[in-house]
Amino acid sequence: MSHVHGLGMVHTPHDEVRLRIDGLLKDEDDWVTAMATVVCELHHAFDHFHWTGFYRTVRPNHLKVGPYQGGHGCLDIPFDQGICGAAARTATTQDVPDVHARPEHIACSSSTNSEVVVPVTAPSGHVIAVLDVDSDDPAAFDGDDVALLESICSTLGERYGEAVVARIPGLA
Ligand code: SME
Repeated sequence: MSHVHGLGMVHTPHDEVRLRIDGLLKDEDDWVTAMATVVCELHHAFDHFHWTGFYRTVRPNHLKVGPYQGGHGCLDIPFDQGICGAAARTATTQDVPDVHARPEHIACSSSTNSEVVVPVTAPSGHVIAVLDVDSDDPAAFDGDDVALLESICSTLGERYGEAVVARIPGLA
């Protein structure tokens, strides 16, 4: 639902969730609190987001699940496995309309048909986490979804990146 404001500005649902997240995190310096807030806001804003969560770099080339909403998520994903691993390894968004066409896809849930994974990259270039959104719907995510996730992850990387890198053993 879009709201038309007095100045004639139209806020899309994507704008609204972004504004809400920006407001909630305005004075927040804790990385885990930020991740938990982002996944909650995103997950409940969009009906086609069936699993929404972060995987965090806990040591070089290894991800562990972080805050998430949805069913059980796999605990560990090495950088050389899964779509999440590909996003972390290449520091690029993985937009996968059909997970069955990507043999490396890790099926935490057999009902998943499409997913988008966006890296959270620190200014130093280290990937500190990835944001993974899965849907049971085929080709569920459009350009607005991807742009929103990329914009949020870019802000998170700038904001929390260097402090997080400094705490990951073997990374800095
Ligand atoms: N689909 C991901 C694994 C994580 S879960 O789906 C929550 C992947 O292949 O990286």
